[in-house]
Amino acid sequence: MRLLVTGGAGFVGSEFVRMTLREHPDDAVVVLDKLTYAGNERNLDPVRNDSRFRFVRGDICDQTLVHELASATDVIVNFAAESHVDRSLEAPGQFILTDVYGTFTLMEAAREARHARFVQVSTDEVYGEVDSGSSVENDPLLPRSPYSASKAGAELLVNAYRASYGFPAVITRGSNTYGPYQYPEKIIPLFITNALDDLPLPIYGDGTAVRDYLHVSEHATGIDTALRRGEVGTDYNLGFGGETSGVTVADAVLRMLEKPAALKQFVRDRPGHDRRYSLDSTRLRAVGWTPHISFEEGLRSTIDWYVDHEEWWRPLKSGEFWDFYRRNYKPADPVGS
Ligand code: NAD
Ligand code: TYD
Repeated sequence: MRLLVTGGAGFVGSEFVRMTLREHPDDAVVVLDKLTYAGNERNLDPVRNDSRFRFVRGDICDQTLVHELASATDVIVNFAAESHVDRSLEAPGQFILTDVYGTFTLMEAAREARHARFVQVSTDEVYGEVDSGSSVENDPLLPRSPYSASKAGAELLVNAYRASYGFPAVITRGSNTYGPYQYPEKIIPLFITNALDDLPLPIYGDGTAVRDYLHVSEHATGIDTALRRGEVGTDYNLGFGGETSGVTVADAVLRMLEKPAALKQFVRDRPGHDRRYSLDSTRLRAVGWTPHISFEEGLRSTIDWYVDHEEWWRPLKSGEFWDFYRRNYKPADPVGS
């Protein structure tokens, strides 16, 4: 199989590329990536010299380029996205362009090239916050941030293409993912790298919002399972099944790095902060995907990776990173306000 992996220089996409070339010796991969602030060609260093691998820098909204690449491949796995909720609150426009219009461009190219399968990598955030129980695939999409709305918008287009053109798409909805090579703006790499530098760990609100953390290696194998064994026209949840609060993440990082609890800093809550996500992943488990890596085990190995790869993350925490950081994090509202 020849795969066109869009957004393959990002966090989850690059893990998927490294895994595919390792596990599927007959496959070839073309990565199309714009290399935004979150994209990093170094994430693909381990496969750079593999003759089955090719990197193309470009935008998924570029119709000419996308059509050319689709005609030389068999399937598209679409990871390309603007992916950070806080940035979507500040500047939603690029999210709508890349996440929605970009997905449309890719589907048009896949249709013209008569691809037999298309994987849209989506997120549990499309369900919106879940007060109790766990989301199943047929639940309504009720996104609440510009990021999750743009991902849900892409999903609705995928659904329209399925119904209108028999478009052979599979959608995966992964939960919060962590592990090596994650740009240090999401909570886990941010807290690890801040703690290593004895900087405060900014916890939104009261720190009780929970997420279901999934190790990136298991997110990648989940997408691989959906691609190869999933049923066209079907959506698949991919979650580990845990519930971990912001404070718990901070406490665990500080404990494992033997840093003082005083580094915890409660800051003003994120507007519209979804309090809880929870996925029921029975459907993908039924076709053979079972995540095993507990939060404790995965966090420990992730911390080890960041300790050993300072040369990877330290250059990322400069310039624009701190400009955004200063704009984003504000002191907590006074108690009772
Ligand atoms: P990321 O921000 O690390 O990577 C996104 C990649 O897409 C980057 O390499 C970037 O350069 C590229 N990109 C952005 N705009 C592009 C464009 N217009 N054209 C081509 N390339 C472009 O994100 P990630 O965490 O790896 O997430 C990948 C996908 O997985 C996203 O679709 C995201 O919605 C989904 N997802 C992520 C998580 C998570 O916790 N990280 C969880 C569930 C789903
Ligand atoms: P994040 O990693 O941004 O993922 P998402 O919002 O897409 O789920 O945030 C995960 C959780 O951690 C979420 O409840 C918000 C919280 N959080 C903090 O408390 N502080 C931070 O600096 C960040 C980035 C997130």
